[in-house]
Amino acid sequence: MAEQSALAVILAAGEGTRMRSSRAKVLHEVGGMPMLGHVLAAVEAAGIERRAVVVGAQEADLRAYLETAAGDAAIHRQVQLLGTGHAVLTARPSIAAGADQMLIVYGDTPLITARTLRRIRRRLAGGADVVVLGFRPTDPARYGRLIVDGKRLLAIREAADASAEEKRIGLCNAGIMGFSGTDLIAILKRIGKANAKREYYLTDAVEIANRLAKRVVAMEVDTDEVLGVNSRHDLARVEAAFQRRARTAAMAAGATLIAPETVWFSHDTRLGRDVTIEPNVFFGPGVRVGDGAEIRAHSHIVGATIGPNAIVGPFARLRPGARVGNGARVGNFVEIKNADIGVGAKVSHLTYVGDASVGKAANIGAGVITCNYDGFAKHRTEIGAGAFIGSNSSLIAPVTIGEGGYVASGSVITRNVAPGALSLARTRQVDKPGWARKFRDRNRKPANRIERKSR
Ligand code: UD1
Ligand code: MG
Repeated sequence: MAEQSALAVILAAGEGTRMRSSRAKVLHEVGGMPMLGHVLAAVEAAGIERRAVVVGAQEADLRAYLETAAGDAAIHRQVQLLGTGHAVLTARPSIAAGADQMLIVYGDTPLITARTLRRIRRRLAGGADVVVLGFRPTDPARYGRLIVDGKRLLAIREAADASAEEKRIGLCNAGIMGFSGTDLIAILKRIGKANAKREYYLTDAVEIANRLAKRVVAMEVDTDEVLGVNSRHDLARVEAAFQRRARTAAMAAGATLIAPETVWFSHDTRLGRDVTIEPNVFFGPGVRVGDGAEIRAHSHIVGATIGPNAIVGPFARLRPGARVGNGARVGNFVEIKNADIGVGAKVSHLTYVGDASVGKAANIGAGVITCNYDGFAKHRTEIGAGAFIGSNSSLIAPVTIGEGGYVASGSVITRNVAPGALSLARTRQVDKPGWARKFRDRNRKPANRIERKSR
């Protein structure tokens, strides 16, 4: 069976006033990516080729985001928020262009998986006309209830309109729906607003489709997948669910997490096999970790690539553009930004390496600083293979330390160091034998004088 064409209509017009935010609700992040991005990714992974996003008041911000995240998505502006049915109808130009399947997805329900969207698509391809996702929340209070008869879904009753008996139903509407063919517009046009909220309810589509003798079914999913966000509290709950999922996936793919509940992932964190992650590690967006690498406790890593068998931390900070080579070592209280650390190089203690390259097997001593910024521009430091930078040295960029070069401890290096050379850039030591003893003798006060004074 050839795959059917599909359109996803993503509802993102809700203002999210309970978020108390100047940012559009669907642009709030989960796992370091806007919620809308998660939904777009699931839609794409489910093989849905066309996307229409219904936006509201914060149109400009959403347009700017969509330009980078989904350049080909159609954008429709819902001027007045008259309900979910009205929101879908706002995407009418996209719907009228036709597709074998139409899926309605909420932009504030970011944990929906491609797998579930594919399941909906299979039900539609198999002959269902309308598929509604259902779930069983622990507290169904504010959700629409699914009224079923055997395999058929008869109606969705919004909480505000439900009878006492209907309110006892545990199976609820997750909001995500699939429609086959272009029946959708005909159905939407019949939706009225004779309900408690005087809104155009998308949920009325179910009864209308039944009247048109369509096959309408419900499909149950895990609650975590359809958690919606209306407040910061909801956002934190969704983040927690996202993290649980990411930790499980990391371990399933062959990483050891000593205390999984203390490791924080981003949507795009990539770990190799046999990676070990100690407790309390944070991964921001854009991190890759090679096979066999070890990330030790309390490290903060963003936009970095860590090579196979490298050891990072404890207490390391890798910022964007940090690239740690195979078997290299980045130790405690070390910060690395936009810099390559060569294969087998060691940066073990209390160091800042920024806008630099550190050659293969070089050794950077404790407390070394690359002084990359003069208040106006950033400058590079190049450290050759096998070089040795003595502890507590400052390298004033732009500067190059030649291959195998040696910098004496405590140096302030302002000129290039030739390959194989030693550079000392510190004052010579002056020695005064016996000076300390004499100094103390001269300044020591007689004991009786102190006693008299203290009386
Ligand atoms: C909706 C469902 C309910 C379901 C619940 C699941 C209806 C009538 N009710 O209720 O059965 O149990 O979701 O979470 O559909 N939106 C717009 N424009 C509008 C109104 C809403 O774009 O005019 C968007 C919102 O941004 C949101 C989604 O549609 O992404 C759902 O709207 P919301 O107001 O949260 O609906 P619920 O009352 O939660
Ligand atoms: Mg809602």
